[in-house]
Amino acid sequence: MIPQEKLILGIESSCDDTAIALVASDGKVLYSNTLSQDSLHTQFGGVYPEYASRAHVENIIGLVHGAVSDLGVSPKDLEAIAVTRGPGLIGSLIVGNNLAAGLGIGWNVEVIGVNHLRGHLKSAELETSVLEYPAVVLLISGGHTFLTLLQSKDDVQILGTTRDDSVGEAFDKVGRMLGLGYPAGKEMDELSLKGIARIAFPKPMLHSDYEFSFSGLKSSVARYLEVNKQYIKEDVAASFVKSVVDVLIFKCEKAINEYQPNTLAIVGGVAASPIIRDAAQSLCQNQNVKLALPPQKWATDNAAMIAYLGWDYIDRSLHIDPIPNVNLKFEDY
Ligand code: KG4
Ligand code: ZN
Repeated sequence: MIPQEKLILGIESSCDDTAIALVASDGKVLYSNTLSQDSLHTQFGGVYPEYASRAHVENIIGLVHGAVSDLGVSPKDLEAIAVTRGPGLIGSLIVGNNLAAGLGIGWNVEVIGVNHLRGHLKSAELETSVLEYPAVVLLISGGHTFLTLLQSKDDVQILGTTRDDSVGEAFDKVGRMLGLGYPAGKEMDELSLKGIARIAFPKPMLHSDYEFSFSGLKSSVARYLEVNKQYIKEDVAASFVKSVVDVLIFKCEKAINEYQPNTLAIVGGVAASPIIRDAAQSLCQNQNVKLALPPQKWATDNAAMIAYLGWDYIDRSLHIDPIPNVNLKFEDY
């Protein structure tokens, strides 16, 4: 199929997913492919950075070839190339950024470096709905946990973040204690749907404004497993997930009451959880607020959100070069 419209080629390699996408200006995703490295990292119970970079090097050019040949795309069909500049692992970022720079020179196409966290915000608009501002956005991923208030696309205020583990990290670490592979989020959901949330794990920092903390909860689970050798895995998972979801939804509700947003969006890999999606749905129905969630397949890291975000920055001559640290204003570069 030869595309009828101009496209942005998105490149994502900030952590352990190598991803390429082609997205039109209206957010239509014509191509999206993500190669996960889960099987490589599961033995370590987390991402092993050097292996992540190597796997990106091995896979990324083949993915671009796949995208271009599947759609019959040539450089003249591209409006730009958008690449994740950060935050992320430096070795992983370098692979995507160098590829983008090389393709930009070779194809004579503009290259735009974008912020991965902003990419997650944009994912809520892929194929679904446009955010109506002000918007309260909860970003819950493997690397980050932020509750934010957006007065407009470019006005991001961080209401709170985590003092220790991110939500995804807590899912993954508790999953590991229960003998699950990495990442454990999806399996934790499946397990917890078979269990009963009868263990009263703490709901950390419930009444501390918009700050989060998950490492104490993780330790409580560890203690419970040590003391109760005959534990029922499903019930432990259900009780852990309930504590997390109760905290997240409680803080979203508090932010809705305080800031009266038009939209609540929940983005990032953990937003793939059907349990969180259902809880958010009920909250928004009760509060009469629009709910924006990324399509489940684009909640976790992907290049479609990066390509779609690129459309907001055409001709702004942004730089590329990896920036591994988090930019707390979620600015693009
Ligand atoms: O956004 P993401 O792909 O990567 C980062 O930017 O960090 O998020 C990955 C995280 C992992 O911790 C994974 O366990 C979690 O998202 N995750 C889930 C689900 N799918 C992925 N957590 C809960 N339920 C899921 N269905
Ligand atoms: Zn991410």
